[in-house]
Amino acid sequence: MRSRLWLALALALAGCAAATSRAGLAPVETFLARHWRAPLAPQGPPPARFSPLEASLAPEACGTCHPSQLADWTTSLHSRSMGPGVAGQLVEMLESDPGSALSCLTCHAPLAEQAPRAPAALEPNPAFDPALARRGIPCAACHVRGHQRFGPPRRDGSLASTAPRETLPHGGVTRTPAYLASEFCRGCHQFGRDGFALGGKLLEDTYNEWKANRFAREGVQCQDCHMPDRRHLWRGIHDPEMVRSGLTITTEAGAERYRAGDTISVTLTVESTRVGHAFPTYVTPRVVLSAELVDRAGEVVAGSREEHVIAREVTLDLEREIADTRLMPGQKAVLDYRRRVDRAGLRVRLSVVVYPDEFYTRFFEALLAQGAGRGEAQIREALEATRRSTFTVFERDIPLT
Ligand code: HEC
Ligand code: HEC
Ligand code: HEC
Ligand code: HEC
Ligand code: HEC
Repeated sequence: MRSRLWLALALALAGCAAATSRAGLAPVETFLARHWRAPLAPQGPPPARFSPLEASLAPEACGTCHPSQLADWTTSLHSRSMGPGVAGQLVEMLESDPGSALSCLTCHAPLAEQAPRAPAALEPNPAFDPALARRGIPCAACHVRGHQRFGPPRRDGSLASTAPRETLPHGGVTRTPAYLASEFCRGCHQFGRDGFALGGKLLEDTYNEWKANRFAREGVQCQDCHMPDRRHLWRGIHDPEMVRSGLTITTEAGAERYRAGDTISVTLTVESTRVGHAFPTYVTPRVVLSAELVDRAGEVVAGSREEHVIAREVTLDLEREIADTRLMPGQKAVLDYRRRVDRAGLRVRLSVVVYPDEFYTRFFEALLAQGAGRGEAQIREALEATRRSTFTVFERDIPLT
């Protein structure tokens, strides 16, 4: 049974390699095909003139000269992508099914130096650096290949360096507009065409969702919303401010005054106005709109609660899609609350609550019930974290009478 859950995840990964590039091999696609060819090659020996600081792949080494990016990255989920939920599952998977375990690392810890085993023969990896392995998606995963630095054009759009490159730290930077494009993020946030699908839709389809909507047409890239002013924060469904920034939430009451015996009508509307893909894009979060009556004492009136769920709900074994009520850009969810009120002094409480890790809560519970082996302590820690991540993005009491 334990292996069935693992199998479910492993299946989900089959075909997750970089999405197929478009026909007209633009320079960006050519660069990205090389840059993200998985598994990434070891960096190899550093150039002889590199100081130990320039040769190091540790985020703190980069942070010596790029402190603001390090400070931002440290608060991001990219720095925690080898958290206990992933690491706890990998402990035994590395032995029972090393191929699947290594496939997880292509997104969660992509540098060759982060893999305990070499990809082809699954033998111990001579380039393995255990300290780096725990660092999730380090700076070097996005910026360093063969010890050479790659990055975006300067803010003025220029690509060339003013000083001779040999005089610059780490031999300067090779600049390319690929860093400004949504395609840069695609390899890890979009399954390939033959990847695991449910109900005819890929399990991870963020790039395609973006591509099909108005933000792509208007040229708004992933980075414009997730790295504003080039900041390395990557806020998403776990951040209340980020979620609020993408939604317009409104309420409407049918009439201003009511008497006992009247039927009241209140609507709560959540419109996706600045989310660049489905809200939410993954199967893991759950968003609940609710309305309920509250009496003078502040107690909820029993039986008065109604809910509307926004989610792509799937079964734990990923065999079936139960429902897909996610909002594409421009779409709205409406909770229309109508009810006869039998007394005065009531209020209607409207709220929108986000459970960013709802699927993982159920998944980790099931894993622990089966026995998570030597990963147990970490899975418990991960389960607790999924429970703590819940937050309210909107709450309003509307008085009646
Ligand atoms: C000894 C200081 C130093 C260290 C260590 C260092 N850098 Fe740099 N980095 C620089 C300087 C100086 C520049 C500006 C070079 C230029 O103007 O072309 C730069 C430029 C860059 C750029 C382009 C930034 C821009 O302004 O557009 C990137 C990306 C980059 N470094 C990444 C890294 C990464 C990743 C690491 C760690 C693996 C790292 N650097 C380590 C000093 C350093
Ligand atoms: C090497 C793979 C990789 C690349 C490249 C990558 N991501 Fe991620 N990203 C991940 C993983 C894995 C997570 C989940 C981390 C976790 O919670 O364990 C993640 C998490 C995120 C989140 C946080 C989601 C949340 O749940 O709140 C956002 C936002 C995000 N990525 C945006 C981007 C953007 C934008 C880019 C391109 C600039 C990008 N990512 C590039 C692998 C990647
Ligand atoms: C194609 C890239 C990709 C691959 C491969 C991948 N993941 Fe993820 N994973 C993500 C992204 C993106 C997220 C964040 C979105 C989400 O929560 O679903 C994530 C989130 C997670 C999370 C929840 C966040 C956390 O840190 O606890 C777990 C657990 C996880 N993945 C485990 C795995 C395991 C185990 C494997 C291998 C069997 C794997 N992933 C393979 C991209 C990937
Ligand atoms: C998931 C991929 C990813 C990771 C991890 C990452 N970066 Fe970046 N970085 C980018 C992208 C994409 C840009 C360009 C963003 C833009 O222009 O919108 C960028 C831009 C930069 C720049 C140029 C900033 C400027 O103001 O011009 C520097 C310097 C840099 N990164 C350093 C780092 C350092 C240091 C780390 C680790 C602490 C790091 N990056 C981690 C993707 C990444
Ligand atoms: C117009 C702004 C915008 C654009 C463009 C955009 N996003 Fe988002 N993204 C958001 C907002 C707002 C959220 C928070 C609400 C949510 O989770 O859907 C979010 C959430 C996320 C999450 C959290 C997981 C989840 O289930 O929602 C990930 C991962 C993510 N975005 C990745 C991407 C990637 C990759 C791209 C480019 C292909 C992209 N985003 C383009 C605004 C944007």
